[in-house]
Amino acid sequence: MKILVTRKIPEAGLKLLKERFEVEINPHDRNMTKEEIIDAIKDKDGLLCLLSDPITAEVIDAAPNLKVIANYAVGYNNIDVQTATERGIMVCNTPGVLTEATADLAWALLMAVSRRIVESDHYVRAGKFDGWAPMLHLGGDIYGRTLGVIGMGRIGTAVARRGALGFNMKVLYTANSPKPEAEKEFGAKKVSLEELLRESDYVSINCSLTPETKYMIGARELRMMKKTAYLINTARGPVVDEKALVEALKEGIIAGAGLDVYENEPELTPGLAELDNVVLTAHIGSATSETRTKMAIMNAEDIIAALKGRKPKNLVNPEVLTK
Ligand code: GLV
Ligand code: GLV
Repeated sequence: MKILVTRKIPEAGLKLLKERFEVEINPHDRNMTKEEIIDAIKDKDGLLCLLSDPITAEVIDAAPNLKVIANYAVGYNNIDVQTATERGIMVCNTPGVLTEATADLAWALLMAVSRRIVESDHYVRAGKFDGWAPMLHLGGDIYGRTLGVIGMGRIGTAVARRGALGFNMKVLYTANSPKPEAEKEFGAKKVSLEELLRESDYVSINCSLTPETKYMIGARELRMMKKTAYLINTARGPVVDEKALVEALKEGIIAGAGLDVYENEPELTPGLAELDNVVLTAHIGSATSETRTKMAIMNAEDIIAALKGRKPKNLVNPEVLTK
């Protein structure tokens, strides 16, 4: 059987696939275009793709033999899962293995923007540091403040736990269902989005991107936040209206933002990169060597299971099995 891998991933995963299948890997050091994917997928039984590859009905229809799509990510909003299910194609992702790395990155952004780490680093490198000063690069307190987590799933809970246990923070959250374990473990409290935005000193977005969460944070919501509050997004860019965010950051509606994801990735809304009160990273939430290796193995094992007639461990559309 034949597999398409749309971009080189850690060898540990590729090796598992190569031992069993004929594997075609994108030879370029760039993402494949949609046309290239459509062309390469024609005779493939399995696809290992990236969160930046739009796996639309058009792409799926180009692959009559396709049986499994493994997304090298936990979020799978790039895949038309409904069409895949209708065509009897299993869709898999990489939950769990990237939870702690992504929560670490959310915290790195939170601390970096609040304590002005990047700005201060640039200042020192530019030779502007001329001695300790009482009013230099004053930031926001973190310890003991209030953290609001939007989307208290695996990653949101890991972000919240760091805040509660490491930084003595009060934790508010929104989620589709209550999280009694987080409430018991570290006193997290489920509130409305409005209450979370009004009360939190730090707002961390950790929900998945769905039609319901698209633009969940727009001009109106940003105005509900404290002027001294920070917004951290390590989930998906389109949860935030990026244009409204740039305005809010310019006008001092909120104090700052730490962003790992963007509305029209990799493009940035004009003005965003010119702001001092943002810290921007390049969608690196899961980007540790250990985590990326685990993700590669997870995807490979699920493709193997699917093509050998077993149930993949991380199947996002289990209803496909009864079709
Ligand atoms: C990264 O954004 C992922 O969804 O794994
Ligand atoms: C700062 O360096 C202090 O000693 O307070």
